[in-house]
Amino acid sequence: MPPFVFNTSRSIQFGFGALARLGEISRPLMGVRVLLVTDPGLRSTGIVDRALAVLSDAGMEVTLFSDVQADPPEAIILRAASIAQEAGVQGVIGVGGGSSLDVAKLVALLAVGKETLSAVYGVGKAQGPRLPLILVPTTAGTGSEVTPISIVTTGGSEKMGVVSPVLLPDVAILDPELTTGLPPHVTAATGIDAMVHAIEAFASASPNNNPLSRMLAVRALQLMAPALLTAVRNGTDATARGDMLLGSMLAGQAFANSPVAAVHALAYPLGGHFHIPHGLSNALVLPHVLRFNAVTVPGPYIDLAPHVFPALGRLEGQERGAAFCEALEQLSRDCGLPQRLRDLDITEDWLPRLARDAMNQTRLLVNNPREITEADALAIYRAAY
Ligand SMILES: [Fe+2]
Repeated sequence: MPPFVFNTSRSIQFGFGALARLGEISRPLMGVRVLLVTDPGLRSTGIVDRALAVLSDAGMEVTLFSDVQADPPEAIILRAASIAQEAGVQGVIGVGGGSSLDVAKLVALLAVGKETLSAVYGVGKAQGPRLPLILVPTTAGTGSEVTPISIVTTGGSEKMGVVSPVLLPDVAILDPELTTGLPPHVTAATGIDAMVHAIEAFASASPNNNPLSRMLAVRALQLMAPALLTAVRNGTDATARGDMLLGSMLAGQAFANSPVAAVHALAYPLGGHFHIPHGLSNALVLPHVLRFNAVTVPGPYIDLAPHVFPALGRLEGQERGAAFCEALEQLSRDCGLPQRLRDLDITEDWLPRLARDAMNQTRLLVNNPREITEADALAIYRAAY
């Protein structure tokens, strides 16, 4: 067996209602003064107020930063970090979707004052130390609570990644109750994103694709494939929400160590230029990228298919791989997600620009099981159009 490295968050605390334990978990880890990083949408749900109340009950002094926006730009991160420094916080708590968690990770790093944001873009550049860090996801999607990755929007439309094990939090608190109020379209898009993490991790051409990641990816998909539609249609179904949150975390652990590839590379320009939510961007290009990959490397999809959609077990070989792509497309359709780029008011003349920008995602493209050129990317966007 080839050598591999597997890193994940030090402690994972899962349970319906686990948010109530945020104070007792955070105080011994980070002391009294903390920064809570979140977004304005979550404030309006009451979840942030509940977190603040739990922390206050534990005798903690909280500075609130609730200005995170989707596809967080550098300016937001730098502002949050300077607020953390001015307040002299001893720890950072991120509560929210992937954007809030990604911002919290970088604030914990930058508030120490030893590293600058511009110097840590790329893989392994961030060295730490960072402030103690707790992440509480409120969507079942990014898996950010167990990944060493923060995605930042630079220069208006480009996405850059900071990738370093130092960004893995000390504690991830997974409380499925926090996801029960997510609207169907958010549940659907974030859920497909999580499934893409598992699929791309399983098929990744990364030299660190490893048996732990593949095992976690399979289990993640076994949990999420049957739960997603239930969670979309009946948001208060506790079992479905629990399966989705656990599944998205397992998928996060998988791709944190066996990184994602061309689906994400082609999704990022859609988010950057058109502010299409990350999960929906992935859903739009997913079947088309997999069909492209399956021409030369169908094996991973043939292997995965019966775990995700048991009925596909009666098919063989290429036919099973093709049916896997079809079934994923059908699941996205059943979830009510738009299926074509044209449905999102993207004009056809944008496609060459999208293909050019996707080629900049070299960090991701190197992991794709099939080599992908700009002409290939354009053909995939056309197929998705
Ligand atoms: Fe993703």
